[in-house]
This record gives sequence, C-alpha cells and structure tokens, in this order.
Amino acid sequence: MLKGKKIAIGITGSIAAYKIPLLVRLLKKEGAEVQILLTDVAKDFITPLTLSVLAGNPVLSESFDKKTGSWNSHVELANQADLYLIAPLSANSMAKMSHGIADNLVLTTYLAAKCPVFFAPAMDLDMYKHPTTQENIKLLQLHGNHLISPNEGELASGLCGAGRMEEPEIIFEIIKNFFKKKTQLSNKKILITAGPTYEAIDPVRFIGNHSSGLMGYAIAEELANRGANVELISGPTSLSVFSPRISKTDVVSAKDMFDVCINKFPECDIAVMSAAVADYTPEKTESNKIKKKTDDFLLKLKATKDILAQLGKQKKDNQLLIGFALETENELDNAKKKLKNKNLDFIVLNSLTDKGAGFKHKTNKISIIDNKGNISDFTLKDKKRVAIDIVDKIDELF
Ligand code: CTP
Repeated sequence: MLKGKKIAIGITGSIAAYKIPLLVRLLKKEGAEVQILLTDVAKDFITPLTLSVLAGNPVLSESFDKKTGSWNSHVELANQADLYLIAPLSANSMAKMSHGIADNLVLTTYLAAKCPVFFAPAMDLDMYKHPTTQENIKLLQLHGNHLISPNEGELASGLCGAGRMEEPEIIFEIIKNFFKKKTQLSNKKILITAGPTYEAIDPVRFIGNHSSGLMGYAIAEELANRGANVELISGPTSLSVFSPRISKTDVVSAKDMFDVCINKFPECDIAVMSAAVADYTPEKTESNKIKKKTDDFLLKLKATKDILAQLGKQKKDNQLLIGFALETENELDNAKKKLKNKNLDFIVLNSLTDKGAGFKHKTNKISIIDNKGNISDFTLKDKKRVAIDIVDKIDELF
C-alpha cells in the first residue's frame, strides 16, 4: 500500500517526539520514503541522527544549510510529498500553523503543501483544553487538514487526561488506510447513534448505563476521514467531535433518539446504530423529586421503541443498516437473531465475557456477522482500530 509513497513528517517541540522513530520504522518497512523535518525545539527531544539513520536520508531543519551552502526549498519538499504528517504538533506550533505564521521549515512546508496534511497534537491537559487550542484545532480542520486526535492517559507532566499523542502504530494504520483503494464512502450521508440514553425518573434521577460513546465516536471519525458526511446522534457523553464532516445532535432519552433517527434516516445512505439505548423507561416521569417514604419502592417501566428495528422496517434496497449486539451468553445465536429480526446488513457483536471488550474500555473485541452468513472474528484492539475494521466492512458492502 505504501510502496514508493513519499511521506514528509514534521516534528515539533514535544516529548512525544520520542515515538516518531517507531513510526518511521513502520512506514519504511511498508516501502514508504520518509523525509523528516524538525523544528529547533524538536531537536531537544529527539536527535537528528537517530531519525536520519532510520529514515535513510538526512533530516532537514533549516531552509539554508550553512555547512553545505545548499537551499532546502519548502516548496519543493511540499510538492514532492504524497502526504505531510505533523507529529507531534505542540500547542505553540499549532497556533502558528492555524494562523499562517511560517517561521521555520516545518511551517513553511505546511503552507506550501498541496498534498493531504495530517496533524497529531501532543501537549499537556490544560493546554489542550484551553479554548484557544480547541479553536485552533477546529480552524486547521476547516482548512482541510486531518486531525489524529490525542488520547487520554498519563501525561509527561504527571497530569492525567487528554493531550497524549496517538500511538505510532495507530498513526501508521491511519496513514495506510488513507492510501487504500478509493473509498465508496466519499460524500455519502451516514447516520450514527452513540453513547447511552438517560430515562428520567424524576427531575434529579434517571436510569442509564455505562456506555462511554467511544466506539460510536471512533466510527464517526473514521467515516468522516473517508469523506462521508456524518449525522451523529449522541446520548449524554463527555466526548467532543472536531471534524467539520460530523454534525452532532445531542439527545437524552430513547424517545428523543428515536424521533431524530426516524426523521433523518430517509435521506441517509447508511445507518450505524451503536448507541446503548434503554429498553425500558419509567411509565411516568414525576415532575417533583420523589421523597423517601417507604422501605421499598416499586418503579413501573414500559418498553421503549426499538430504533434499529424500526429503521429495519423502513430500509430501502439502496440503504445499509448496521447494528450492535452486546451479549453475555449465547452470543453468536443472539446476534444472529438480532441480525435477522431487525433486517440488518451486518451486526457487530461484543461479548462482555471477553476481557477488555465492551463498555468502559478503550479497547474492544468484536465479531462481524453479515446477512450472507459470513462471520469474521477480530482480535482485541484499540477502539480506533476496531472502527477501521467496521468501516472497512461498510465500505466493502456499500
Ligand atoms: N437498539 C435500538 N433501540 C432500542 C434498543 C436497541 O436502536 N430501543 C439497537 C442498539 O443500538 C443496537 C441493537 O439495537 O444496535 C441491539 O441492542 P441490544 O440492547 O443488544 O439488543 P436488544 O434488541 O435491545 O435486545 P436485548 O437487550 O434483549 O439483548
């Protein structure tokens, strides 16, 4: 896939620079030609020698090389590249990049680049959360650049949260995927549900579940990366979307989600229902807080409407419908029943008996069962990689 592809990597000043040699090795192994560009501060985090040995050519950091007297033309570098990745991208370089400041070779090459540009932010939690940084990320995306969003986790500062650069193996997958044969999903309209629903008992209490929304958001992002226009209908989560190709509607209850989906589905090519929708809701929502009076308390519930089953009834021949099944026993049989009963094209099965799969994890282990009887089992992977597998299947069937 990457044989002969020219990939330029711009490295800016962040500790995450230490991960780039691994990425360079992965790219080289696949036959890519790698050209490294470094800012001055980046050299404090990673040595040019390590990078030039791995890339197999000298790294560049100055427009004018005083030693050899040669000129490193940013325009030429930008024209030669099939893809320009800026990773890690520090908050400072991101601010410059989003406002057209070009005071080093990494940034002049960015301004001259006509090839697709990917950027992988890496910074401390507070810098990442700062409204200016968030605005800059949006600006870069609006200008057509592809975000490789950072992970949450332990940061070099000792803080824990968002801002950790994506792992090199996943950046590699994303790049590889980008060069795959032309996707069928470009400009297709795709409906996706994600997260839990909250069913109100009274003004302060609800029935909910542990869904984080991570899986659905990762699928939405992967679809947007392949050029689809995504309608994300999300239950309450702490997640955000950045891609201008994703339009997000926030909902709370199963009924809200049902109404929005029924309204949007007719104009969509594909629907992916990954939300953990409540099957039951309180028969009556009290308008005042329920007071504690008795030793026991009985709450009467009524069934919610099954969104996926309803879309299955309405589905036209040119529409694809994908569902999820989260099971704890008789996994395959239950998933097959849902696939048939809800008239799906394929179903993604997660088993809660698999360690590291399902809710609350950053990883997932899935099987895909399609309506032709094909079953594919996948290994435990990061949810962003699982999203790539699911979107590959959508792409194949569409
Ligand atoms: N789903 C839905 N609307 C509901 C319930 C579920 O759209 N009211 C969708 C989910 O988004 C998922 C699929 O149906 O894609 C399966 O959900 P799941 O809860 O596993 O299955 P159910 O059909 O509700 O069956 P059960 O809870 O009995 O396993």
